[in-house]
Parts: sequence; structure tokens; C-alpha cells
Amino acid sequence: MLVSAKDMLEKARDGKYAVGQFNINNLEWTKAILLTAEELKSPVILGVSEGAGKYMTGFKTVAAMVSAMIDELKITVPVALHLDHGTYEGCYKCIEAGFSSIMFDGSHYPIEENVEKTKELVKVCEEKGMSLEAEVGSIGGEEDGVVGLGECADPKECKMIADLGVTMLAAGIGNIHGKYPENWPGLSFETLAAVKEAVGDMPLVLHGGTGIPADMIKKAISLGVAKINVNTECQLAFAEATRKYIEAGKDQQGKGFDPRKLLAPGTEAIKETVKEKMELFGSIGKA
Ligand code: 13P
Repeated sequence: MLVSAKDMLEKARDGKYAVGQFNINNLEWTKAILLTAEELKSPVILGVSEGAGKYMTGFKTVAAMVSAMIDELKITVPVALHLDHGTYEGCYKCIEAGFSSIMFDGSHYPIEENVEKTKELVKVCEEKGMSLEAEVGSIGGEEDGVVGLGECADPKECKMIADLGVTMLAAGIGNIHGKYPENWPGLSFETLAAVKEAVGDMPLVLHGGTGIPADMIKKAISLGVAKINVNTECQLAFAEATRKYIEAGKDQQGKGFDPRKLLAPGTEAIKETVKEKMELFGSIGKA
């Protein structure tokens, strides 16, 4: 059964570890992440961007696939199905489709409008027992057409949004989606500490989990990060394993072209990546 991310994130915050949000793109992605979470007894959040939702033919398809897969694979660990960087309209579509969690990314609106829209969604999510993530200070880089410059959030604005009663808060701390450039100065722990000070107990979310060095991840967790999003790293692992399979000519040996064989190395590579992240985030055995 799908659950809200609230309990798992509050436990993570108290236990000083983080739950991974791994973005899904198709059946293989979903299966790889769910099986790894179950094997390692880790709670998990499946992230769906609006672009990925569209690719999978719509949020209803995604919700139906994930719910059925949890049932068929007998997954017992807590799983939240979460809209990633949702627009206002996208949030309502996911609420209707049966997601258990949404992110409203109002970071590009003036703060008053972000507050207004987030406030409305807090109410709706409360009624439905869903978790809600809000964002202040946009995340750098590009994800499915959502472009951010990697701002550092204003702690006062973070408090305004946190006080509305959201479940978790994504605050920009110099993090970027996708690969980090050579000259990236690193996460701003100063900003993170100031945000934490302003918002108190609120579980914080670190986007752009791909390529952040392990020591920075650990420090971020120690400063209140309870959810870490990973997307690009699974994509890179999948692409590399698939390329190797084809470059070795394996798709031309026997029935190597069978999609179940062709996609298997990539699927295994996603499992490996998810396992490494769960180890690093400390969520193994916490289900
Ligand atoms: P990466 O693609 O950099 O791992 O970021 C994922 C993310 O933050 C999803 O919201």
C-alpha cells in the first residue's frame, strides 16, 4: 500500500538518516527500486516528474502501475508515490490520480504567491492524508524543462512556508540537478544551518543528490536533511550498462535482442545505484 511520506521522514529526522527519493521513468525503473528497497528493508519514495508522468501516459497509469506492482511483488516496506517539482495543476492531477505525496514547486513565484498556493495545498493534502513538499529558493540546473539557477534560500521565507504546515521543505543550498560542474563550490552549509534554525523540526529535502560527495551528504543529514532526491545517477548507470551490453554485441547473440534481456543489465545497474545510495543515506533496515 502507498503511504504518505510524513512518518518515514519524521523517523528519519529523529534517527539522523535520510530516505531516498528515486525518480522513476518506466516499469524497469520502478521494479528495480521497489525490489531493492524491499531487499534492504528500507523505506523509499518514488519520484515522478511531470515529464516522466507524461512519458508514462499520465499520472493515473503511474499510480495504477505502482500500486499493482507493490501488490504483485509483495512489497512490505513503506513506499510513497510522490510528484516531483509539481506545478499547481500537476498537484491536483496527482491528488486525483491516487499519489500519496506531492511536491508543489512554487519557488519561481513571488513569495506571497508561493505562500498562497502552498497554503491551499496544505489543506487539501491534510484532508487526503497526503504529504506535501514545498520549495523555497530554486534548485540549480535543469530537470525535465524545469530550470533553476541554484539559489540559496532565504531562511525567513523558509519559515513562512514551513509555518503553513507542509510536511517537508526543499530549500536551495547551492544544489544543482544533474552532474555538478567542475567549479561547483559545494553545498552551502551556512544556508542549511540557518534554514534549520528558522524552521525547527521540519524535515528538510536535498535535491540534486547525483554526484554530491559522501562527506557532504553526511553533513547535510546531520544538519536536518531527511530526504535526498536522486535521478540522474540512475539514468547514467542505466545508460552505461546498456551501452556496454550493446557494444559487446550481446544484443546480436542468440535472443539477446529480447527486451527482457536487453534491459536487464541497465535494470541491475539501477539496483546497484539505489543500494549504494541507501547505504550512504543510512536508511537500510529502517522500514
Ligand atoms: P539529480 O538528477 O541531480 O539526482 O536530482 C534529482 C532531483 O533533485 C529530483 O528532484
